[in-house]
Amino acid sequence: MHLKSALLSLSLALPLTSAYHLAVTDQNSKTVRVFPRDAETWNKDAIYWSFKCDYDPWPWQKDIWGDLSEVKIRKTADRGLVALVATSGGMVGMVDIKSGQKSTTLRDVVWEAFAGDNPHSLERIPYLGAFVAASSDPGKLTLYVPTDGANNLDRIKRTYRYDVPKAHGVLWHKDNLWAIGEDYLYKYDVVGKGEDMQLKQVGKRIDLPVVKDKKGKKRARNGHDLSASYKYDDILLLTHTAEAYTYNTTSGEFESLKMGEKLKSLVQHSSGEYAWVRGVEKNHEMGQYVRFSDEKAAGKETTKRGWPNADFYKARIFDPGYE
Ligand SMILES: *[C@@H]1O[C@H](CO)[C@@H](O)[C@H](O)[C@H]1NC(C)=O
Repeated sequence: MHLKSALLSLSLALPLTSAYHLAVTDQNSKTVRVFPRDAETWNKDAIYWSFKCDYDPWPWQKDIWGDLSEVKIRKTADRGLVALVATSGGMVGMVDIKSGQKSTTLRDVVWEAFAGDNPHSLERIPYLGAFVAASSDPGKLTLYVPTDGANNLDRIKRTYRYDVPKAHGVLWHKDNLWAIGEDYLYKYDVVGKGEDMQLKQVGKRIDLPVVKDKKGKKRARNGHDLSASYKYDDILLLTHTAEAYTYNTTSGEFESLKMGEKLKSLVQHSSGEYAWVRGVEKNHEMGQYVRFSDEKAAGKETTKRGWPNADFYKARIFDPGYE
């Protein structure tokens, strides 16, 4: 065997630990864009999939799809991959990710609702065809349930609202729904089906860890993000105003990742790598780069991707991560 082909087969045999894609919400370009983690630069040529969230019909309706706050990639039985998006303007929706169609627009939204009150996150309850939106101002979860079978998206209606002050994240994880808001993490069971479906809080709401400033004063704990580790089954990742944590759903223990303040999003790939967005700029709270670190040194940046005038809010691994 030639040296060159020996090297080639060697490199092919190595696990491609960082060969994954990330979906970022950029409020400046009003898009969700998916890029290969390994692309040298995240430019137009590197876009793997995109969703343009631009809506401009009448002046008074203009902003209802404004300010993309979150995207999540999920898998549904009858459509395959979908993207769940939430916008601060009020709308939340599900976008069909059809294979072969690289760019999508609001026309590709297959389910939508006006959740209002500054939506920050949307989740789907698998197999039951329901959706839950988290709105931050003043804070609630809104449950949308199917009235005619789990897959009939035309017959979904809003039912209950649940108070979660400053709700910023909602996540389906191993048979439970989780939500994060001001000071607390919440766990729910989903009970009933169809129109009878409800969320039932499991136990007491869970206190987020406290961080004190130099004068010993407690810092704010406004929950920013909630995601599931793609490496460890029982680990959730969450961030609040002052710090980032792992939360072990089995032991109920938090562990500080010591990554510091203002993390707008945090995810962990199955290789252990972390990717995050920090709100840093003086004039606005968005990030211009997704930053990466090894698992062993959380927060110690190994590389970054983005562009100077991006307004990133969240970055998500382009993989449904559950089922
Ligand atoms: C979570 O906690 C359980 C129970 O203490 C433990 O067995 C498990 O290893 C923990 N998970 C991780 C990823 O540390």
